[in-house]
Amino acid sequence: MNGRVTLVGGGPGDPGLITVSGLAALMAAEVVLYDHLAPLSLLEECAPGTLLIDVGKIPGGRATPQDEINRLLVEHALAGREVVRFKGGDGFVFGRGGEEWLACAEAGIEVRVIPGVTSAIGGPALADIAVSHRGLIQGFTVVSGHVGPDHPASTTNWEALAASGTTLVILMGVRTLGEICRGLIDRGLDPATPAAVIASAGSPSMRVIRGTAATIATLAEKVRPPAITVIGAVAALALADAQPGPGA
Ligand SMILES: C[S@@+](CC[C@H](N)C(=O)[O-])C[C@H]1O[C@@H](n2cnc3c(N)ncnc32)[C@H](O)[C@@H]1O
Repeated sequence: MNGRVTLVGGGPGDPGLITVSGLAALMAAEVVLYDHLAPLSLLEECAPGTLLIDVGKIPGGRATPQDEINRLLVEHALAGREVVRFKGGDGFVFGRGGEEWLACAEAGIEVRVIPGVTSAIGGPALADIAVSHRGLIQGFTVVSGHVGPDHPASTTNWEALAASGTTLVILMGVRTLGEICRGLIDRGLDPATPAAVIASAGSPSMRVIRGTAATIATLAEKVRPPAITVIGAVAALALADAQPGPGA
């Protein structure tokens, strides 16, 4: 009998942010294929003897090709094993979960999805940024920044983003941040729009840098991935300052 593949979103870095179902799936797995952005300390919760396979991508370094990941998922499930694909955030938000689902379905393997807290929302939340704070904004837009506005491979309508009036949340945009901010300003975004970069959200080394669309790329030039950029009025809202102080 075939096994099954469960796509588990591990949340944005902090091991406490996985779902109860996600943790149960990890504990029941016979094989786990994991990425580096997943909360890796949770691998200690796997049963003794669980086969742990590192298929992570190091930025600018080694990567397991997606076809090979798909092949491993299918191979282990066809051998009757309970397989978990373990990633950071949510597997369907720039996580290639859909491709893995299709590869398994094509091979006749049952797939189960356990959503995770995406870093696109969870990362800002950990920095006390509410992406859709009522009264400031009526929506948020999540985009990949892996190529900037002037890159020929970009399919994003950056003019529309600059004029969208929504909070912009940019993932995979550390290297391109300067080009993205310049591109948005060139297309009409107010350079004084508040902006924040949240790096390594949910980990002990988390950093939050605040500025404006005009200044954030320079202020954050030493930041290394993973990081999220938030552009919009919500980035300046100091929710934490509204908390009662000690003795209040
Ligand atoms: C390939 S995408 C995967 C996103 C993931 N599926 C999610 O839902 O969070 C990787 C990007 O997510 C963002 N990211 C993921 N985890 C992060 C974290 N802990 N802190 C900051 N950014 C993070 C970064 O922009 C990073 O380049």
